[in-house]
This record gives sequence, C-alpha cells and structure tokens, in this order.
Amino acid sequence: MLEIARQAALEGGRVLMQKFGGNLRVDHKGATDLVTDADRGAEEAIVALIRGKFPRHDILAEEGDWGRCESRYRWIIDPLDGTTNFTHGFPWFAVSIALEVDGEVVLGVIFNPFYREMFVARKGEGAFLNDIQLRVSKTASLTESLLATGFPYDRKESRVNNYDHFVHFQQAAQACRRPGAASLDLAYVAAGRLDGYWEMKLKPWDMAAGKLIVEEAGGKVSDFDGGPLDIYGRECLASNGLIHGAMVEVLQKGERP
Ligand code: IPD
Ligand code: CA
Ligand code: CA
Repeated sequence: MLEIARQAALEGGRVLMQKFGGNLRVDHKGATDLVTDADRGAEEAIVALIRGKFPRHDILAEEGDWGRCESRYRWIIDPLDGTTNFTHGFPWFAVSIALEVDGEVVLGVIFNPFYREMFVARKGEGAFLNDIQLRVSKTASLTESLLATGFPYDRKESRVNNYDHFVHFQQAAQACRRPGAASLDLAYVAAGRLDGYWEMKLKPWDMAAGKLIVEEAGGKVSDFDGGPLDIYGRECLASNGLIHGAMVEVLQKGERP
C-alpha cells in the first residue's frame, strides 16, 4: 500500500508540474480559498490510481465527493497543498496522501514535486526522505527555535485567526515563517528543518500524513493543550518534543478555535 501511495503522489506531482506556471483556471471556494484545474486534475489522477488497486476502500479527498464504501480503509488526500502559492507561481506546494485503517493513520506520504522530495512513513517503521531516515531536531529552547505556522481562510471575518499566537511566538522564538503548505510544514518538522509548527482550523487532509511522519521521526503532535492530535479537530501542534511544553504554554495566551 505504501508503494501505491508513493506512485499516486508521483502521479499527482506530475500533473501539478505540467500545470505549474501555465494558464490555470482559478475558481473561488471562498473569498481567499481557491481551487484550480491543477487541484482537480491531480486529485483525479491520484484517486484513479488508488481506486484501480483498491476499489472497495473509502476516499476522503479535498476537492471531490468520492462516495462511501463503509470500508475499514480510508485514503485521505490533499492533491495540492499550497494552492495559493501555486496560483502565483511560487514554488512551494505538495501532494499529501495518508491511509487510515480503523481510524488510525498507518501510512503517510508527502511529495514536493518541485524539489523532488518524497517524505514517507509507515506506523512503527520510521520516517524517510527519499530513503534517508528522518530525525527531528535537537533544539531544546524556544528562543533558539525556528517555527512555522499558517493562517485560516476565514481570517478576515473571524477574530480567531492566529494573529495573536503569531505575535507571541515571534517574540518567544528565534523566528517564525509562513511557508503556505501545512503538509510541508509538518514534513519539515520531521526532517529537523523546523523545530516546531502550529496551526488552527486545518482539515484532515492537511494533517493526516504529516502527523504520522512527525511521530515516526521522533517528534510530538498534539492539540494546543498537549492532548492527542485529532486530525478531524481544529488545532495542530507539532514539534521536536523538546520545545513542546514551551509551545503549549505560549498557545494558552491566545484565542482558541
Ligand atoms: C492550505 C495550506 C496552508 C494552510 C491552510 C490550508 P490548501 O491548504 O496548507 O498552508 O495555512 O490552512 O488550507 O488550501 O492550499 O490545500
Ligand atoms: Ca491543504
Ligand atoms: Ca488542497
């Protein structure tokens, strides 16, 4: 199944790279939430490949309703994570694919087709980047940490928009970034390129693969209180484990979704 997930991510990435920088059809799902023919084309290619192998598995993907089979197996797919970057020609986006069995994520793949970096993990077997084993960073203090985050699509209408947390972490950490693709933020925590990441109001397809990849690289994922991360929930905190408590403390000072 991991091999199929990997192939599907490569195929999705191929579709994205064909469209990247070209003329895109851009539709609005909300004021700032976009969808393009690249999102839809990549999703169709990924689902076709997975459905071809596992016709009776469930599929939860961002752009389409693929029906329900009431299977123990559920593929959770973001065909293009980082759509806003993509539409501007800013080369920072990914395909994210996870497999849940009986409600537990057991494999995850995140593919950055521009950099040709494939992050993968299988439950209990470690996390890898292009076959090299991943380990989270060893940074032990928040003041020396590089963090990432993102802002929700309803940020202009809702007061719970993460601006307060961003200010608090900008003061507490070495620096904070807003790269624009949640799955890659998580993959980068796993790779030790970021020490921590937090975001609110994400969707399961933003978090599912990344959650497992961080855990398998020795990191920690949770909600803003340090409790278990629910990929169907509203809060996501990931870190190398060492700065987790300090991040939870900072998150208590701001608005919660
Ligand atoms: C978005 C990106 C972004 C995050 C948003 C997500 P999309 O996904 O991951 O970094 O801040 O919350 O919705 O819409 O590009 O698939
Ligand atoms: Ca996404
Ligand atoms: Ca998406």
